[in-house]
Amino acid sequence: MRTDRTFTMLKPDSVEKGHVGAILEKITASGFRIVAMKLTQMTTDDAKTFYEVHSERPFYGELVEYMTRGPIVAAILEKDNAVEDFRTLVGATNPAEAAEGTIRKIYAASIGENAVHGSDSDENAAIEGAFHFSGREMF
Ligand code: RTP
Ligand code: MG
Repeated sequence: MRTDRTFTMLKPDSVEKGHVGAILEKITASGFRIVAMKLTQMTTDDAKTFYEVHSERPFYGELVEYMTRGPIVAAILEKDNAVEDFRTLVGATNPAEAAEGTIRKIYAASIGENAVHGSDSDENAAIEGAFHFSGREMF
């Protein structure tokens, strides 16, 4: 399993608020290379599948509504130790607990609407990347 790639989504709130350019600038300035990227919108079935692990949690319905309400930017990012380093750059799920300078500290409104997704393991990064991109869309 490769350890130098992760998957991200700039969530609907980031697109709505016009934060895409600034967040991508922060990501590339932090040493990540963009391997694949597109503006796309998840269907309800997509979001339910993507966040299936949370299907028993009380926030699941809200999460699916949020993730499908508008377009997202999906991307695959490359860097040594990509999954862990990207989650450090993203910051804690709850922006109130996120470290200074992290993407969620700067751009997230709340624990529910928190600007970005970052894969939590190499295995999930591969699954999530393949969910959104075909081989010919990865560079
Ligand atoms: P993500 O998967 O999106 O990168 O976020 P994460 O690992 O930091 O957090 P996770 O526990 O996987 O939760 C997935 C997303 O569900 C929403 N959430 N809402 N209202 C709540 O208490 C709550 N908790 C989680 C957030 O959008 C979170 O990113
Ligand atoms: Mg997660």
